[in-house]
Amino acid sequence: MISILDQNFSQLNQFLNTLKPSKLFILVDENTHEYCLPTVLGNLENEIPFEIIEIEAGEELKTIETATQLWEILSEFEADRKSLMLNLGGGVITDLGGFVASTYKRGIPFINLPTTLLGMCDASIGGKTGIDHQFLKNIVGTFAEPEQIFVFPYFLRTLPFVELRSGFAEMLKHGLIADEKHWKDLISIENLDPEKIYPFIETSMKIKQKVVEIDFKEQNIRKTLNFGHTIGHAVESLFLQTNQLIPHGEAVALGMICETQLSVLENLINSETAKNIIEKIRKFYPYISINAFSTEQILALMKNDKKNSDGKISFSLIDKIGNCQFDRSVSEENIISALHFYQNLG
Ligand SMILES: NC(=O)c1ccc[n+]([C@@H]2O[C@H](COP(=O)([O-])OP(=O)(O)OC[C@H]3O[C@@H](n4cnc5c(N)ncnc54)[C@H](O)[C@@H]3O)[C@@H](O)[C@H]2O)c1
Repeated sequence: MISILDQNFSQLNQFLNTLKPSKLFILVDENTHEYCLPTVLGNLENEIPFEIIEIEAGEELKTIETATQLWEILSEFEADRKSLMLNLGGGVITDLGGFVASTYKRGIPFINLPTTLLGMCDASIGGKTGIDHQFLKNIVGTFAEPEQIFVFPYFLRTLPFVELRSGFAEMLKHGLIADEKHWKDLISIENLDPEKIYPFIETSMKIKQKVVEIDFKEQNIRKTLNFGHTIGHAVESLFLQTNQLIPHGEAVALGMICETQLSVLENLINSETAKNIIEKIRKFYPYISINAFSTEQILALMKNDKKNSDGKISFSLIDKIGNCQFDRSVSEENIISALHFYQNLG
């Protein structure tokens, strides 16, 4: 399922030579076109015809309009069910490309070749595809698994630092919810740079992969991956509404701080442990002010989160470093208190 590519991309070549797709559609954005596509094309060793489809970079393009354009392009180029989509990019490309592939002609196969840290450790794994609509992130989408995920960590060399740091938040989350050693390894990194992170990418990928293998449709343990995301997503959506985008991972870091405090308020961890976790997260991330939004606005978005039902806000909360509980219904009072706690850190 996950292959760490060698310098010659031999695993990818072997895969393509076995699958023998009728045509390869490589979806890129302007940056992955420039920085990653030449490496991929330079290493492809087969006669499979291919088309390159480029979209502009950015979350703003993860829309139904772009999906429509992509369906039209696939149709113009007569993509059939034996065609293969190769999503070469960050989470926007893998979410969008996966969505388009899984819906075009009721589904054509696709593979992910993530090029951001977030894409590698999170977005490319687990089969969630989707687009944003009317300021709601990932509100339309499918569960559809890529045939394979290929990872070439060296793509991170050209990734802007802000994006690297964004992806690192998901790695920290993996440590906090599932693996104390992973957490300790990650927080021991002094300065975030690709070389320091490479050794830990595979562990993070495996943590996510293992969780989604047990619970693909998010009925139980997969919910633990939402740690930091209930509040993080709400805040991210509010920034999206004001056209001020914040990196996904920074929203998750903010969410993890609030939800670590919630774990204290719910008597799951003690305040000493929480203080330590929060200090470590803050070592890597700048403070993002949420004062422009009211707690009511944040709560309203959380209630609308597609992961909730019956109007209750459910959280995944840690009960120690390396373990996480899911389906914890939390009182609004405690949520507001955690948000105020965060605001007081500013
Ligand atoms: N499906 C899931 O399970 C899941 C999980 C987490 C996040 N996501 C989604 O992922 C998206 C965010 O993903 P992202 O942070 O990767 O953003 P992104 O795809 O927008 O990539 C970030 C930026 O980095 C550029 N870039 C990508 N690779 C590069 C490289 N190697 N060198 C230089 N520049 C490069 C891109 O062009 C873009 O400008 C969000 O839409 C989020 O909803 C999905």
